[in-house]
Amino acid sequence: MSIIQWRNDLCIGHDLIDAQHKRLFELTSKLYDIAIGSDDKSNLKPLLLELYKYTLFHFDEEEMVMRNHKFPRYADHKHEHEKFVATLDALALKAREDTSALDIEILNWLSSWLVTHISIKDKMIGQCLSRDSQN
Ligand SMILES: [Fe+2]
Ligand SMILES: [Fe+2]
Repeated sequence: MSIIQWRNDLCIGHDLIDAQHKRLFELTSKLYDIAIGSDDKSNLKPLLLELYKYTLFHFDEEEMVMRNHKFPRYADHKHEHEKFVATLDALALKAREDTSALDIEILNWLSSWLVTHISIKDKMIGQCLSRDSQN
């Protein structure tokens, strides 16, 4: 059983963003499998780098969607993204020296951040988009 599993109720109703969130879940799940469930850690660093790059890509795209729709809580939301990226960056730096830095506690934190952020903050974007489409 993976640490993080996609559920359809996490969809925010924007196909591109939903697909990117699913990809983030896949990458986090893979990271967990290697960090916790495997003795072979050789793929850990490249995977962490992939997750980091994909997170940056996703946040850029999501922030563009927010700007295009004049999302009212843009600044707060962007700030949350920036804090998460800073933590991920620090983690990647630690894991470069010692792969055991990527322990269950960190992976739990990573997973729960994603679930909470998507189900509360990103859902607000979805609500804003559906209001826009009704007008
Ligand atoms: Fe997102
Ligand atoms: Fe977000």
